[in-house]
Amino acid sequence: MSGTKTELSSVETRHPSFVFSLNGVETKIQTASSRRLVDLLRTDLDLPGTKIGCEIGRCGACMVLIDGKPSNSCLTMAYQCEGKDVETIEGMNGESLDPVQKLFLEEGALQCGYCTPGMVMSLKGLLKEKEKPTYEEMKESISGNICRCTGYGGINRVLRKLSEG
Ligand code: FES
Ligand code: FES
Repeated sequence: MSGTKTELSSVETRHPSFVFSLNGVETKIQTASSRRLVDLLRTDLDLPGTKIGCEIGRCGACMVLIDGKPSNSCLTMAYQCEGKDVETIEGMNGESLDPVQKLFLEEGALQCGYCTPGMVMSLKGLLKEKEKPTYEEMKESISGNICRCTGYGGINRVLRKLSEG
């Protein structure tokens, strides 16, 4: 048993601390290498805008941007963000509403809102990559985000309006 303990402890200390950028702020973290990014954000860093749904990469509720790319934080270990740029929905808390968030409100594209941060992050990821994506590209970008309440009517209007520019 003690052999197993030593092994686990060396795994746990392999990444004792690391630095990454979180919503533009250099952040130093000390955490177990088994800690998931979603838990680090929600529990340790008090950023609950990133949601937990399926926990197996199928619902998109936990979507964040890592180096600009949409990534499921339930499938990402915290230490994998070392040296990277992580953006969460809280990073969009500017003086005025982000245009994508504004459209979600205007088009009534949310009910409980649980899926909304993940949807917004997926769309932001696409808009970072491409200035004027098509409707089809936007649809594809949120194909990993599940909404269980809206019936997608409002979300679809958001995509149409965004694609019309
Ligand atoms: S909680 Fe991560 S994809 Fe569902
Ligand atoms: S608004 Fe409730 S899950 Fe999408």
